[in-house]
Amino acid sequence: MSDSIFALTNHELWVVTARDGERRAGQLATWLLPATLVPDRPRVVALLSPENHTHGLVRASGGFALSLLAEGQEALVPHFGLRSGRELDKLAGVELDAPSPAGLPLLAGTCGWAECAILDALDGGDRIVYLAEVTAQRLHAGRRPLRKQEAFARLPADVVAALRAKAARDGERDRALQRSFPHRAA
Ligand SMILES: Cc1cc2nc3c(=O)[nH]c(=O)nc-3n(C[C@H](O)[C@H](O)[C@H](O)COP(=O)(O)O)c2cc1C
Repeated sequence: MSDSIFALTNHELWVVTARDGERRAGQLATWLLPATLVPDRPRVVALLSPENHTHGLVRASGGFALSLLAEGQEALVPHFGLRSGRELDKLAGVELDAPSPAGLPLLAGTCGWAECAILDALDGGDRIVYLAEVTAQRLHAGRRPLRKQEAFARLPADVVAALRAKAARDGERDRALQRSFPHRAA
């Protein structure tokens, strides 16, 4: 996608965590954004792949937590974005803060966290678009968010190559999953 306008975006890096009973999981995500201007009723939109291990726990539990990575946490990008929880317990290998009020895992050293309850979902096939309300959140002041382009500039070249290769493989995998929608009548 290097000749695409979307290659110019530079999203913050989040770790999405979920818990279903005793099972816990976490994945990296960039496609997250605030979804309301109502100050006391915050909402977010999250685009999650149904192919991800973490998504199974999100769907089963109806919620997720977001940890916003801070500058200096580049090593967590391949940790949560390259491997799957089907292969290893990614949360066992990282420093965690006390869980959120609903018991969701939260990463230590981040810019802060938000606990989210799903309100609705649009199934696009390769991505599920979740609208969720923020049920609790905390900002850790004084830390700067880590963004994709800066993280990729600081990670070793072989790690970046592996991340790009995985994204290309996932894109081909997702081709068959994409759902087409009929145009709405004018
Ligand atoms: C920079 C970057 C951004 C990503 N953004 C998203 C995203 O917004 N949504 C998503 O579902 N997956 C995203 N991923 C992919 C998942 O993090 C990746 O497939 C992960 O290995 C899934 O882990 P899991 O199977 O343990 O859930 C991203 C990966 C990287 C490297």
